[in-house]
Formats: sequence, structure tokens, C-alpha cells
Amino acid sequence: MPGLDDLTRPHDGRPDRPARILFGGDYNPEQWPEETWPEDVRLMKEAGVNSVTLGVFSWARIEPRPGAREFGWLDRLMDLLHAHGIGVVLATPTSSPPPWMGRLHPETLPRDADGRTEWWGSRQHFSHSSPAYRRYAAAVTEDLAARYGGHPALTMWHINNEYCTFDWGDEAARTFRGWLQERYGTLDALNTAWGTAFWSQGYDSWDEILPPRHAHYMKNPAHVLDFRRYTSDMLLECYRAERDIVRRHTPHIPVTTNFMPFWTGQDAWTWAREEDLVSVDIYPDPKDPYGGQYNAMIGDMTRSQAGGGPWMVMEQAAGPVNWRGVNHPKPYGLNRLWSLQSVAHGADALCYFQWRQSRQGAEKFHSGMLGHAGEKGRVFREVKEIGRELALVGEQVTGQRVRADVAVLHDWNSWWAGDQDGRLSDLVDHPEIVRAWHRALWESHTTAAFAHPAHDLSAYRLVVVPRLYLLDDTGIENLLAYVRGGGTLVCGFLTGVADEDDRVRPGGMDPRLRELLGIDVLHEWWPLDAGERADCGDFHGTLWSEELAPAPGAEAVAAYRGGELDGLPAVLRNGRAWYVSTLPEPGALRALLARIAQDAGVRPVLDGLPDGVEAIRRGELLFVLNHHRDEVTVKIPGHHRDLLTGADVDGTLHLARYGVAILEEPA
Ligand code: GLA
Repeated sequence: MPGLDDLTRPHDGRPDRPARILFGGDYNPEQWPEETWPEDVRLMKEAGVNSVTLGVFSWARIEPRPGAREFGWLDRLMDLLHAHGIGVVLATPTSSPPPWMGRLHPETLPRDADGRTEWWGSRQHFSHSSPAYRRYAAAVTEDLAARYGGHPALTMWHINNEYCTFDWGDEAARTFRGWLQERYGTLDALNTAWGTAFWSQGYDSWDEILPPRHAHYMKNPAHVLDFRRYTSDMLLECYRAERDIVRRHTPHIPVTTNFMPFWTGQDAWTWAREEDLVSVDIYPDPKDPYGGQYNAMIGDMTRSQAGGGPWMVMEQAAGPVNWRGVNHPKPYGLNRLWSLQSVAHGADALCYFQWRQSRQGAEKFHSGMLGHAGEKGRVFREVKEIGRELALVGEQVTGQRVRADVAVLHDWNSWWAGDQDGRLSDLVDHPEIVRAWHRALWESHTTAAFAHPAHDLSAYRLVVVPRLYLLDDTGIENLLAYVRGGGTLVCGFLTGVADEDDRVRPGGMDPRLRELLGIDVLHEWWPLDAGERADCGDFHGTLWSEELAPAPGAEAVAAYRGGELDGLPAVLRNGRAWYVSTLPEPGALRALLARIAQDAGVRPVLDGLPDGVEAIRRGELLFVLNHHRDEVTVKIPGHHRDLLTGADVDGTLHLARYGVAILEEPA
């Protein structure tokens, strides 16, 4: 199968043509007069751009009326880019159908849960279930692949863009029923799985089943859970249909679709298996003091979805985005820091949305690599600097793998089931909890990977489960086997509560898991209010607390003090299995995990690093990143050379604000 390596190391071993990191961005030249294109290419060359993504939103330009094909402009662009040695990631334009489609085929438009149509005039207004949409999407994909499959500029296929459209309309109702019939076979089985005996919801005919539309009161959570599973599967069907078309034409060209990280609509574990290379769009908030940790987490997650190998940043922003309430630019150095950080976490391709900032349309205030300030602008100068440095380190960095001894478990099914109406606290937010645990590892300079609960975990010394509310039997047995095989496991609260149908397990937590973690009885959950803190002796817990009775032999490592839970365990240890029934404040969670990691034989990447300085190894290279706005001095044992500056580093490394060093040990 083709992969990212084919693009970054096509001339492996040939010193005259070193391997390279892909660098570039979405290029939407249809927004500009054609006279701008030569200037674009000139500046791309100046910036070291070697890859651009074309066509993401070009459907109306290619097919202005049904069946028409206007490829001339794209022919000229492909030729122009090729003539300048810039590769093309060619997108199928199917995320944004032209207006004629909605007018001629209103059923291609999705509807929200309240029955409102999502009209054209924005983007992503397609029903994944509409045969008309799928027909047109397949036809334009077929013609693109036939026309450009043999073009020398083509390096990669980019299918659609950020698949994310839910549909509660009639087209979806039809395919939802089909999906359910396949899953359950009979209505009896569906009624049992959904627990429809509750509130008189028993279904007597498949036609009675609808997507979970606007309703008087809380919806059936198992119904909602299946709708989320179904939506991910339907979108995946659309992806596969286009992927198979382009693969038929060009089996040697890798195919991807860009994920939104931690997006609820796609089970990215499943999706990643269907891609030749995994790509993601990452937009940390420059004002977030832990933006660097977010960037690290998405890098770790995406690398893990890529099986531990190289992955691609399909989009990031050179400056501000324009979809937050208040949108901040990146201070000088931050774009470079986060870019090199993604490389440190295994990215071999680093691209932006978008090359040239728009002057019109909804994203005209969203930054580009080439902003409104043009080539003299500070942002473009930084982009050039990044391009130059990536070219410098491409040969040594590409293809190198990041090693992690710790895995953080995450599963979309669990998120979907756990974050619904009717739970005890809507302050419990799955991505935030995962982030808190990852942050604790990141702050203790411990490299983490992500894994699915059914993955083989035997390579990890420590497995961390921030919260797996839903765990099927395979997942539970896997965790038991992992600990039995010598692994150390830490589980956060609300883990193993429900089975795959969102049915609460006996005793409120799966009995096998309770036995493993040393919990005899889980009497009650005691959620905490916003700002409320539970005294746990050496630290405070937030968000959640629990009234539980330990099993004989389990040790209460920390206990609640005062209140209703006085004296009951907050943190429980049963051999190599740990249970944390609250969310310790960040410093405490970090200390707890550091202690457990040490016991499990996990070492920080470097000892004695100051807070906010990150170290990570990629292959033999040591990346050191300063997330502070002030310069720092770091002790690095041994003798190294910094690939970026060529300087020798003898025990002491000075890093400027947002500074980065990529160190290698001399041969
Ligand atoms: C997404 C989309 C892009 C653009 C950016 C803006 O990632 O894929 O088309 O809208 O967001 O941040």
C-alpha cells in the first residue's frame, strides 16, 4: 500500500535528493484572478513549499451545472505547479455541493434534529444518505481521477473535507433503518438493546423508527448512541466510495481524508484503518496557556491512529482562526514552535489552511501563510523560516518513530454513550477529562500514545484510562489480560459503567473490573459542583467523588476527608491496578501519575526539566521545546549537535522564547 513514506522518502539513500517533510497548504486559487498564480508560485518557492492541496471547495467551478466539466483552469494549475516542482494533493470537491444540486434535488440537503433544512450558501450541506448526492459525487470523482490520475504533479488524494455532517432528514431515516436491520436482525433484538420497555417506546414496525429528532423530553440514550455510530458509518461509506474510485485509477497514490481532532462525528480508530495515511487539522488556541499540550495530545492521538508511524498535519493556522469568539494571532515564534512540535510527535507533513488569505467570503479574517500583509508581513517571514528549517532536517527526521511506554485509552463509543442527557453531571466532559490526564503525563515529561480498549496493550508499561464509561466485554477482558500479563493500569471514575448497549453493568461497574481494581461495593456516585473541591488529604479532587467500599487487600492510597465520604477511599490500589474516583487537581494528578509511572518502570524523557519545557525523542533525535515566552536554560547530559543551528551543545542548552532544538548525538 502506498503511504506517506513514498512522498517523503522517495529517493531513500540517495544523498543528492534528500528526503523531505511535506510543507504547504490548501491552495484555493479559484478565488483569485489568474494573474496572481505566478506570484503565488514564486512565493511558494521562496517559502520552501513543496506541496499544495487543490480543489477542496471547487465543485461549482468544476461542475457549474449538472454534468458540465470545466477542467481547463485546473489543467493549467497542475501544469504550473508541476513546472515548479510543487506536488499536488488533489481533493475531491464533494464536501460543498454547488447550488444547483439543492435546487434540483432538495433531498440532498441535510436536516437538523428540529427538522430545519441546511440550505446551500455555506458548506458541507449534503445528506450522506442521498442517492442523488452520492451519484454526483461519484461522477465528479471518477472524472477527476481519470483526468489527473496520470498527471505528474499528483502526489496524494484528499477525499472530501472534514466529514462532519449529521442528518436527521427522511433520507437518513431510510438508511438508519437499514443500518439497524443489519445490526439487530429483528425488532425484538432492537427493542431489547434499546431498552424500549422504558417509557412505552416499543417498536412494532421498522417504519416507526426515526433518527432521534426533536422530542418532548429526554431521548432514549441507546437510540442516540446508535445514531452516532450510524452517522460515522454512513460518512465512512461516502469516503470509501470515493476512495475506491480514485484507487482504481491510481493504486500507487496514497489516499487520505482530514480528521477534525476529537470530533464527535467520526470514530477515527475505524476510519484510520481505511486510509493510506492519516491526516488531521489542528487549531490550538494561541491564548490557551496549555495550547502546546493540546497540540501534543492531538499529535499523540493521530500518530497512534497511524499505527505509530508518520502522519500529516493537513491544516493548521499561521495566525488567527476566525471561528472562536475572540480570535488571537500567534505571537512571534509560536507558529514555528507548534509546527516543530508536531514534527517531534511524528508528523512528516505540515500544511496550513490556507496558502493565501482570502479577501472575500466567510473566512477572509482567517489567517493564511501569505496574509493580507503580503510578503513583507511578519507571518510570511515566519512561514519562510519554518520552510527553510524543515528542509534542513527532512533527511534525518522523516520516517523516524516516536516510542511511548504509556498508552492513554480513548474510544468514541464510550464518549458517545457517556456524554448524553440524563447523566448525573453534565460537567463531566469526555474530551476535557482525557485532556486532563494527558496533560498530567505531558507535564511530567512522559511520552504517551493513545490506544483503543481492544488494542494489544502488551507493549506498554502503563495504561491510563481517563474514563471509559462504556466498555464491551472485549475491552474488559483485554484490560484484565493486560494486568495479568504484568502491566500497570490506572482507571479514572465512570469507567466500565455500561455495556455496548449502554446498559448499566451489575453493581454500577462491571464486576470483573471491580474485582481487578479492588472495589467491593460502589454505593453511590457523588458528583461535585463547578468550583467545589473534595478534600482528599494531600490534594483536592474536582468534578466527581464516590462512595465506595474497598475489597479486602485493596489499599486506600488517599481518602476523602470530611463530608459524607469522610474516610472512604479516593484513590485505591489493588496490586498493579489503580482506581481514581475523583479528578485530582492538575498538580496532584501529575504527581500521582508520575509516582505510578515510576513504579511501572516508565522514565521521563529527561530528568530535571523545568515546567513548560518539553522533550521528546523521535528515533535517535531529541527534540527540546520551550513553551515559555521567556528564554530558558536546560541541562542536557552528554554532548549533542543541534540540527537547526549546527551548534554544539555541551551539557547546557539555551532556548529562546518558544525556542526549539533538535539534538543528535555525534556519530
Ligand atoms: C477547517 C476547514 C477549512 C477551514 C478551516 C478554518 O479545518 O477544513 O476549510 O474552514 O477549518 O480554520
